[in-house]
Amino acid sequence: MNRKGWSFGLASILGAAALIGGYLMLPEGVGPAPAFAQVGTVTFPELEKLVHYTTVRRGVTREHMLTNQAALDAIQAGQPVPTGTHVVLVDYQSDVLARYLVAEKTGNNPDDWAYQAFTPERSIKTDDESPARCYSCHQSRQDRQYMFTFSDARSFQD
Ligand code: HEC
Repeated sequence: MNRKGWSFGLASILGAAALIGGYLMLPEGVGPAPAFAQVGTVTFPELEKLVHYTTVRRGVTREHMLTNQAALDAIQAGQPVPTGTHVVLVDYQSDVLARYLVAEKTGNNPDDWAYQAFTPERSIKTDDESPARCYSCHQSRQDRQYMFTFSDARSFQD
């Protein structure tokens, strides 16, 4: 790359960094507070304490959906799930564990959800959709507590 191209490239990287920095530095309550932008917000849950409430199958993909009993009770009572609730998608490809997708209710506001993909070894998976993309797709289910399998959770009986 010639010198001009290089400095243009650098300027746009710095510009983008400043923009992102500025966005994240917004004080709470000003503009959208992006729960999903806080990398590391989502903790990996204790899977053995969760309930497997539904399975989605598509070709070689098998997804086990898990959450805690308190969240299922809340959903079935028409209440918001408790803060701290984890919802987990355990993703199997041809019967081999491929990854975990985790949603966590991070606060009392209906929009307080955070997302993270984890590897089978349960460390943060960085080559997946960004948490921001997870959030914006799940936001389309705002009226169903950000859950695509909401009706399965609502009708689940153990
Ligand atoms: C383009 C839309 C889209 C994106 C992006 C997306 N999801 Fe989902 N998610 C879905 C759909 C649809 C389902 C229902 C299961 C299915 O159809 O496979 C789902 C299911 C889930 C579930 C089970 C609970 C529920 O909502 O039904 C979790 C947990 C989850 N996703 C987490 C994540 C995480 C973490 C990411 C980012 C790494 C992510 N999702 C990205 C569409 C999306």
